[in-house]
Amino acid sequence: MKYPDAPHVDVIDILHGVAVPDPFRRLESADDAATAAWVAEQNALTRRLLDSPLRDGLAARLRELHRVPRMSVPAVRGDRIFFTENDGSRAQAVLYLERCSGGPACPPREGARSVLIDPNSLSGDGTTAITVFEPDGTGDRVVYGLSRHGSDVQQLLMHDVASGATFADRLDWVKFASIAWHGDGFFYTRYPQPGTVPLQDPIEGQHYDWPVGFRQGLDLKDFWQLEEHTLGETTFTHFADGTGHKNRMQGNDFVQSVMYTRGVTCFSCHDVHGTGNNAELIKPVKQLCLTCHGPNSPNGPHAASIEAHTHHQRGSAGSECVACHMPRIEQTIADVNVRSHTFKFITPGMTDQFKTPNPCTECHTDRTTEWARETLKGWSGPSPWRMN
Ligand code: HEC
Ligand code: HEC
Ligand code: HEC
Ligand code: HEC
Repeated sequence: MKYPDAPHVDVIDILHGVAVPDPFRRLESADDAATAAWVAEQNALTRRLLDSPLRDGLAARLRELHRVPRMSVPAVRGDRIFFTENDGSRAQAVLYLERCSGGPACPPREGARSVLIDPNSLSGDGTTAITVFEPDGTGDRVVYGLSRHGSDVQQLLMHDVASGATFADRLDWVKFASIAWHGDGFFYTRYPQPGTVPLQDPIEGQHYDWPVGFRQGLDLKDFWQLEEHTLGETTFTHFADGTGHKNRMQGNDFVQSVMYTRGVTCFSCHDVHGTGNNAELIKPVKQLCLTCHGPNSPNGPHAASIEAHTHHQRGSAGSECVACHMPRIEQTIADVNVRSHTFKFITPGMTDQFKTPNPCTECHTDRTTEWARETLKGWSGPSPWRMN
């Protein structure tokens, strides 16, 4: 087979003293006359081959290979099972509801199902698909997402199982939806309305990052998938001492703390429904810790005064509880700093040994860990054996 010759130019750029040939530069412009002519020749060649007598045989075989039944992972709510299934003959999978007799293993049975949403009836050419669905806790309602023409863009709709009606609400500008029911509503990810904000990061969605349903007294580990980590290993998510060093590691960190074992929860400090304070804190950061802590509080710090504990003047940046007990572990985008949630005091020795940032030299950037270690030795109060 003879392929059309691509337009070729003898361009050589000298970049930092290195010669970089760029012979196919004209292909970077689809409007270039030579490029357009070359694409037309390529298309003609392809068309000639596709239009050969083999085509019908190939198409029939491909259709046959695609004709396999496929089913989504079922979502079970009480005695209801939700799943999508394509028996292989339809353009798109159908969302079904099936009642099951009970028990955790309640396999789908022929005939017991009813159609909830059939996307095949939603467009003449069969290119509208259900790309996500999520029933609420009772199975009375289900959110589902429709994508058209194979697009990543989804529209979310809500369906009432008892009445069979779809609510009038439509949620637009969703992509790769992640849906979590919470009470009567649900959290979901979405993108800004096109044209309303400059798009900096094309995969950036807006999301809510909370262990929904978690309450004081419950075990966070039942609500939050913790990253696995073996002490002693430095990994993508953890320092060797167990401190997380990525965003979204607050849960991993917090379950290691004394506060967690005493029943303090994320909601003792944060409000899921939002506040005017940074990081949705229930109180400004300067007041937050002192609601439960103070020199005379059984929770500590065990010192005559706050100054005696912090060794920094009142009002100094170095006197704030979060300065020493929640050091900045990682900077994500721009000026967003992730603060450690183990609430342990990370010693200068841990920086030397594991690279975990300690608060003293994070703030006193002109000093060494040796300086911090020596300074701490002179502070009354802190347990010297933990200050190495
Ligand atoms: C003892 C109080 C306390 C507890 C408990 C707590 N946090 Fe925080 N959290 C804070 C403070 C303080 C900040 C930082 C505020 C600042 O930087 O001004 C913060 C910041 C955050 C941030 C924002 C990080 C960023 O990128 O800006 C997230 C997310 C977060 N916490 C999640 C959690 C989760 C999840 C839990 C439970 C597993 C939790 N927190 C428990 C006090 C707490
Ligand atoms: C809702 C109450 C509450 C709030 C708010 C709170 N704490 Fe605590 N904290 C506790 C309790 C309870 C303990 C455990 C005391 C004990 O049993 O010795 C504790 C223990 C601690 C300890 C010592 C144990 C350890 O893990 O080393 C530190 C340090 C600490 N908290 C820091 C903070 C900081 C910093 C803040 C503010 C961001 C804060 N706490 C906010 C209740 C609270
Ligand atoms: C300049 C650093 C620094 C600041 C600021 C600081 N701490 Fe500490 N904190 C320490 C060190 C160091 C320890 C000792 C850790 C050890 O022994 O492992 C400690 C230990 C503690 C403990 C456990 C021991 C005890 O005395 O009960 C608590 C509780 C505590 N701090 C609470 C607080 C609170 C609340 C604030 C804000 C008012 C605060 N800290 C501010 C450095 C600091
Ligand atoms: C958030 C920033 C911050 C953190 C964290 C912090 N400091 Fe400071 N530190 C300051 C500031 C600001 C001053 C000067 C004002 C003052 O004395 O409070 C200071 C002053 C000092 C001084 C006296 C002046 C000097 O430079 O010799 C010492 C010693 C000191 N810090 C040691 C420490 C040690 C040890 C730690 C870790 C336990 C620590 N600091 C954590 C901000 C911080």
